[in-house]
Amino acid sequence: MAGRIPQAFIDELIARADVVEIIGSRVPLKRAGREYKACCPFHDEKTPSFWVSPDKQFYHCFGCGAHGTALGFLMEYDRLPFPEAVEDLAARLGLSVPRESGAAPGSSPAGGGAAGADDTAPLYELLAKVADFYCSLLQRSERASAYAAQRGLTPATIELFRIGYASDSWNDVLRRFGERESDRRALLAAGLIIERERSSGSGSGSDAYYDRFRDRLMFPIRDTRGRVLAFGGRVLGSAEPKYLNSPETALFHKGKELYGLYETRLARRPLKRLLLVEGYMDVVRLHQAGVTDAVATLGTATTPEHLRRAFRLVSEVVFCFDGDRAGRAAAWRALQQALPEAREGRELRFLFLPDAEDPDSLVGREGGERFTARLDTALPLSEYLVAQLGEQADVSHADGKAHFVALVRPLLEKITPGVYRELLLDRIAAAIGLPAERLQLWLAAAETPGATAARAAPATARNPRAPARQLGRGSLTTQAITLLLHFPPAAAAVEPQQRLQLARLNQPGVAVLLALLEQLAASPAATMAQTLERWRDRPEYRRLSELAASEPLVPDQGAAGQELSHAVARLLDAELRRRLEVLIDKARAQTLDESEKLELQALSVAQTRVGGP
Ligand code: UTP
Ligand code: MN
Repeated sequence: MAGRIPQAFIDELIARADVVEIIGSRVPLKRAGREYKACCPFHDEKTPSFWVSPDKQFYHCFGCGAHGTALGFLMEYDRLPFPEAVEDLAARLGLSVPRESGAAPGSSPAGGGAAGADDTAPLYELLAKVADFYCSLLQRSERASAYAAQRGLTPATIELFRIGYASDSWNDVLRRFGERESDRRALLAAGLIIERERSSGSGSGSDAYYDRFRDRLMFPIRDTRGRVLAFGGRVLGSAEPKYLNSPETALFHKGKELYGLYETRLARRPLKRLLLVEGYMDVVRLHQAGVTDAVATLGTATTPEHLRRAFRLVSEVVFCFDGDRAGRAAAWRALQQALPEAREGRELRFLFLPDAEDPDSLVGREGGERFTARLDTALPLSEYLVAQLGEQADVSHADGKAHFVALVRPLLEKITPGVYRELLLDRIAAAIGLPAERLQLWLAAAETPGATAARAAPATARNPRAPARQLGRGSLTTQAITLLLHFPPAAAAVEPQQRLQLARLNQPGVAVLLALLEQLAASPAATMAQTLERWRDRPEYRRLSELAASEPLVPDQGAAGQELSHAVARLLDAELRRRLEVLIDKARAQTLDESEKLELQALSVAQTRVGGP
């Protein structure tokens, strides 16, 4: 297929596209001052917290934190991969997407190496064909069909979830789909076959591989567009391991996917909440019983990524755990993972099932309605947290209270400051019988001295004569970057000479700042969206787009320019001092050479100019 899309084209696309128009064609936007607002399409809400800025060409939801450019919106809302979102946007503007030659992936499908987005199409196709194959094998196997029936699965459910069967063979899939070596490389990349160890002496060709899944009931894991990404396979009997999952591949990332999400969307009911359960069978049997908002993580603990995904769709997530000890331990781990994602407008609750039951067995016995009624009894995160810590610390006396505070402090630190955290603090204060202000004091007192000192005096504020400015969020570099993202034209406040000096600093954060300054010096009229899109393929993209979505540090471009030049001056000043100290130390211990003496003199002069010691 085609090669890379040139960056210049993406720049042009972002310059021409209008984020208001793109979003407005899908979400009813209301004008509000210079911006537009709507109820957020990525989570469930009644009052609008989704804002679209024509100036910045950027959208941001204050409820769920979703944010991005026109391209990002298409990727999220229409669930398009990047190249397809570019195609889509280009088509709207009547442009055709140019491709760079040379990078074309050639004939081998998804062969090893760096798999770009374009290499994945044949993998999806292959996985779909193999899923069909497994389905047909289930039809033909009496034993597997009997097992499925014994687990209570109806033919309609088997069809809906496209459940299949991998036969008891070492090479069924290999023979059928792996005729040529290139086919076998594709099967390998899809995680469907395993390469034999070289030393085992086995020959070449197809003998070098064997099927990963044998004699298992197969659950295809699909993305929200219904494309098969991977499989989970359950043994029919009681062998180990009970479940075998596809490995991580170019398409499948365990820590991100939720099993059942596609089927949940197929149910076409208004989605208010997601029920997070542990197993494949739990999801399938819950759906069969009409509980169509159940999804599962895939043999891994819940990750913040899972939760972010869930909260893009709904405002409430209910974790559902078995009532046994393992279930309780899993719930506590889930709570810790969930804390960074907890915030106002998001509801997190915990449901514990009776001992020795899982959702599969319980819904089988009592039916979907009774099960749903249990959901109403699920504990809010705050109640679960308080109850759980209450078991470890007896708050009827002062020592116990102190112990409770010590236990809760690291948990509170994971929560983003805001209304949610404040309310949780109130709840904790009530639970241990302390006024909220006292609790705050206790929490602060329990802080390590190092942490307190670091917070009170950021490294950059050590210079007593430096302007007493404190934008208050992040390091100086982070502040400078945030200012630039929100007000790109403010870049002009930094002199070319200062950019040269920054380049000498040789610090990772400063390198990003410098790259941004240079990018904006070359295209001074860029919007936030254009600035950001340049970074999409770089590791810093995520952090940058978070900063772009954060509150602007100052109200307007003029202030941004001022703050930016202060920040840069302070960065340079700090470096100057550091170098000066090094030279003075050296002068004390030994003699300086000529060039060092000159540097010291020059630095001392510079130092007095910026108002030194
Ligand atoms: P459970 O052991 O609770 O199994 O694992 P289950 O879902 O109740 O399965 P049945 O009812 O015996 O068929 C929960 C989930 O943990 C993962 C799977 O995703 C499973 O659905 N798991 C479990 C594995 O990945 N490997 C295993 O060996 C076991
Ligand atoms: Mn089970």
